[in-house]
Amino acid sequence: MRDVTPAPGTLDPIETASRDELTALQLARLRGTLAHAYDNVPHYREAFAAHGVHPSDLTDLSDISRFPLTTKDDLRANYPFGMFAVPRERVLRLHASSGTTGRPTVVGYTAADLDTWASLMARSIRASGGRPGDIVHVAYGYGLFTGGLGAHYGAERLGCTVVPVSGGMTERQAMLIRDFRPDVIMVTPSYLLAIVDEMERQGLDPRASSLQVGILGAEPWTEDMRLEIETRLDMHAVDVYGLSEVMGPGVANECAETKDGLTIWEDHFYPEIVDPDTGEVLPEGARGELVITSLTKEAMPVIRYRTRDLTRLLPGTARTMRRLEKITGRSDDMMIVRGVNVFPTQIEELLLREPALSPHFQCVLTRRDRLDALTVRVEHRPDATPSAARDAADALQRAVKGAVGVTIAVEVLAPGTVERSAGKMRRVIDNR
Ligand code: DLL
Repeated sequence: MRDVTPAPGTLDPIETASRDELTALQLARLRGTLAHAYDNVPHYREAFAAHGVHPSDLTDLSDISRFPLTTKDDLRANYPFGMFAVPRERVLRLHASSGTTGRPTVVGYTAADLDTWASLMARSIRASGGRPGDIVHVAYGYGLFTGGLGAHYGAERLGCTVVPVSGGMTERQAMLIRDFRPDVIMVTPSYLLAIVDEMERQGLDPRASSLQVGILGAEPWTEDMRLEIETRLDMHAVDVYGLSEVMGPGVANECAETKDGLTIWEDHFYPEIVDPDTGEVLPEGARGELVITSLTKEAMPVIRYRTRDLTRLLPGTARTMRRLEKITGRSDDMMIVRGVNVFPTQIEELLLREPALSPHFQCVLTRRDRLDALTVRVEHRPDATPSAARDAADALQRAVKGAVGVTIAVEVLAPGTVERSAGKMRRVIDNR
């Protein structure tokens, strides 16, 4: 595997600045952002007033906790352009996140916002171990989803040759990887597995492919999944995080030399962790819901945006900026089975410890006799015998009971039968 330690002098100066320098920059930018949002977005002016706060009340970073939280519902209520803080003519690009129900949330970017996004995504690719001159295969979806275009402009900014494949047509993905010999692939971890299966089906050895670095995100994935991907592809698998409302991919990214959680690019985003039930700020290091305030966005500043993502903040290691622990899941994806909270990532972690089971799985929730039931539908590995697959199913059931405390059913299916997605994988099917 490629040496991913950054060469001296290649990082942005702020990545290794002192904590004091970073804090001073954040404070200046945060003041500017609060004023910009207050002056130009009626929603923020009203919400601040209702909370009895004014941008001038912020004298220290911690004062941010006095300002109101912003939710996806606030964005929906201002559909489509009501959260923009600049005249629509200055907005050069729109993206939207589909959401499963109701109106999409629309986000906009000025020229400066697009420039910031490209530079942060370039920083993220470099942190992942990508280098100028690399060939980058982008299999995130292009379109209203931020994944494809976000990755694309970041890779160009870094000085890479971009292959804008988008998601889907898995056979062609495998062919292009064989023929164009990319160094880097940017894709959701679940779709990457589908591509690897297809490479094998075509008789190609994934470990012999040209790929050195995978920049994987848009959905939760575990350390066990990292091991699975790194082993099957003989490449670095690095985590990238982001959300449309805050920018898109590139809000936080793992540093490949440490692979110890995602460095949040704190010169542009101010993170907090709150109690998901009360909204109260939790002490540094506690697990809770990530809340983000943008520090430089022009078109659509977000003040204390509730991401719904569960994680915690850790001190910086490879960079000055703090890290997010690998995200366990979204509060929306949490399954409550007979009173016990269960995340698909917990199932993934235990399932990947069974050599006869594949990483392709879904969690199906049903209700029988007014009681919740969770069935894990999982494929066995192509080479597993039927009895090994049955034993693995039993072992998984015991492991989940032991580690999570719920009784589940495990349905073992033939390879290729669990639904595949070319983007974000739907892990939970709620039939209740
Ligand atoms: O998924 C942006 C993105 C594209 C990130 C490509 C990374 C790579 P949305 O469609 O708005 O934007 O969905 C954002 O996806 O709130 C998380 O719940 C989830 N998510 C994104 N990255 C990760 C990750 C893009 N690395 C939502 N780990 C977020 C866990 C992630 N969940």
